[in-house]
Amino acid sequence: MGKEKYKIGVLPGDGVGPEIIQEGLKVLRVAGEKFNLKYDFIDYDFGGERYLKTGEILPDSALEEFKRLDAIYLGAVGHPDVKTGILEGGLLLKIRFALDQYINLRPVKLYPGIDTPLANKGPEDIDYSVVRENTEGAYCGVGGFFKKGTPDEIAIQEGINTRKGAERCIRYAYQLTKKRNKKNELTLCDKANVLVYEGDLWRRTFVEVGKEYPDIKQGLAFVDATCMWMVKNPEWFDVIVTPNLFGDIITDLAAVTQGGLGIAAGGNINPQGVSMFEPIHGSAPKYTGKNVICPLATIAAGGMMLETLGEEEAAKAIEKAIMKSTGEGHIKSLQAGRMGLSTKEVGDLIAKFVGGK
Ligand code: IPM
Ligand code: MN
Repeated sequence: MGKEKYKIGVLPGDGVGPEIIQEGLKVLRVAGEKFNLKYDFIDYDFGGERYLKTGEILPDSALEEFKRLDAIYLGAVGHPDVKTGILEGGLLLKIRFALDQYINLRPVKLYPGIDTPLANKGPEDIDYSVVRENTEGAYCGVGGFFKKGTPDEIAIQEGINTRKGAERCIRYAYQLTKKRNKKNELTLCDKANVLVYEGDLWRRTFVEVGKEYPDIKQGLAFVDATCMWMVKNPEWFDVIVTPNLFGDIITDLAAVTQGGLGIAAGGNINPQGVSMFEPIHGSAPKYTGKNVICPLATIAAGGMMLETLGEEEAAKAIEKAIMKSTGEGHIKSLQAGRMGLSTKEVGDLIAKFVGGK
């Protein structure tokens, strides 16, 4: 907080990653000038291209360097010539796990002027946050094959839930609910009617940690019903806390309700360590280099990064600039090629608004 200079690792990644990160950095620089923040941006070229050339995804030495950063700013990973799962596991998930970024925070907010596919819902109805557990559950990679490739083959994929993992995630979610001070209601999204062991552990922990937060109302919702309510009554939600896989799935749905992946940002947060911020969309290879992709999700992720670093004023200025750009109709759509502006022009516009012009 209030550091003299922030050391930020920048991983543009693949596809449209470099284009959107460039706009995100542009906005961060202007916010830096305005609010007197200094950064040291350190570039890393990890991603599909480097993997195809060198066979290297992410060396341990880089992870050691990451541990000495203040934050990481990530574009997108995913390359059409790299088999699915390699970069996801070797880069993105590896960073999340190695840096123990146990929270995946995904704000779901419909900004003014943005179309939502939800009928009769506006910005006042869609404003909640999803706290997704980010280091365990179905993502732990534990499992294996038996008799692979034979007619009798078996695949086992385990989900791991620890008390510690559930507890720290749930506690973070209560704290966030308190900080938001909106409806003061935290909803646990699970599948406790079928995943009875995971569900039992999470529900007990939810109630126990809840005793520390007597002013926060507790809600329980099965994940299937949560999906329905996110579409039917998004205004019911304030903060949702949920295991890893459910959080992954519901936040894509949530992103669509806030106007699409063009604007949805997320933070992989270790409240005591190094956090990483990214747009939640992928590398969108077909739009690479065309200067048509929407950079707002990446710019918003940059804002979340500043907020997490304790630079709330600068973070607010970025959010306000995004809201001005959509609310005043400067950006026609968030869809690639339909914004009415290029990727660079959107970055320039937000930078201009952040700079107060
Ligand atoms: C996300 C992504 C990742 C996830 C993939 C790319 C591994 O979908 O950040 O939501 O499943 O967590
Ligand atoms: Mn996802």
